[in-house]
Amino acid sequence: MTMTLSNLEAQLTELQEAGTAAISAVADLEVLESLRVSFLGKKGQLSKILGGMGKLDPSDRPKVGKLANEVKTALQSALDETREQLQQAKILEQIAAETIDVTMPGTVRPQGRRHPLASTIDRALDIFVGLGYTVATGPEMESDRYNFSALNMPEDHPARDMQDTFYLPNGNLLRTHTSPVQVRYMEQNDPPIRVVAPGRVYRRDTVDATHSAVFHQVELLAIDKGLTFTDLKGTIGEFIKQMFGDVEIRFRPSYFPFTEPSAEVDVQWKGQWLEVLGCGMVDPNVLKAVGYDPEVYTGFAAGFGIERFAMVLHQIDDIRRVYASDLRFLRQF
Ligand code: DAH
Repeated sequence: MTMTLSNLEAQLTELQEAGTAAISAVADLEVLESLRVSFLGKKGQLSKILGGMGKLDPSDRPKVGKLANEVKTALQSALDETREQLQQAKILEQIAAETIDVTMPGTVRPQGRRHPLASTIDRALDIFVGLGYTVATGPEMESDRYNFSALNMPEDHPARDMQDTFYLPNGNLLRTHTSPVQVRYMEQNDPPIRVVAPGRVYRRDTVDATHSAVFHQVELLAIDKGLTFTDLKGTIGEFIKQMFGDVEIRFRPSYFPFTEPSAEVDVQWKGQWLEVLGCGMVDPNVLKAVGYDPEVYTGFAAGFGIERFAMVLHQIDDIRRVYASDLRFLRQF
């Protein structure tokens, strides 16, 4: 085909007209890109047309070059404009799709809450922490020494029968109370001591409305120079007041091998005396067992059952309810 000036000019004008029309009709960014390649790309239509320039009379070339530049600019600006419009539309579409209808009802998720035993333990610990006590724990599998002998209950001591014990095949036992934590803590720390120890304990009791083979206690221990029964009474009195409110309380003489003298504390509850804890002045033999000099240090201890506290505070009639994981029961707290 012979190239004439007017022929090339016609092709360029045609490319500009058809090109801009095609570009402005595009509704998709990918299609737009493929049009750009086919019009302005290295092997695109504009390049192809310009390939024919070599056959022109040299004096005609600047004219065609100028026209080609105009075509290129026109196509480029049509591409830019359409791209801009499509991108804008895409953003608007995205915004519309992501709009949140704040009037829609939310997803209701079931809400958990503290178990009554956990919250009773927390409450008791909070009170003692407020009185300057530190929280400690000990193992549930214990040796005879920590559970009994260091607590002034040598082998064959009749007080061992006060607590029916689960013995383990390895010679250890499941602790029957949290009192062994007293011994462990004293072995690891020097006086003065102010410590509370919550934990799980085990007894070979037949399960009924008020007994469980596994239950929880909190142990209290204070050791210092010059501590007396008055300090014990004051501390326990303050604790009971914060736990149960302004109830009447009484100290009743009792017996525990690891305290001397020992007492049990009752509170007035619904017209009756209700026993809530055991306590006493730490027996000198217990202090000796951990290497403390009973002539220099004295102290008091107390222990109480968390289930009993929770049952009184929440008017729970049967201990088995607190272990049953019945949501109808647990949702009440
Ligand atoms: N360990 C006792 C029990 O399980 C409770 C107890 C009584 C703990 C008097 C004490 C205490 O620390 O002083 O029955």
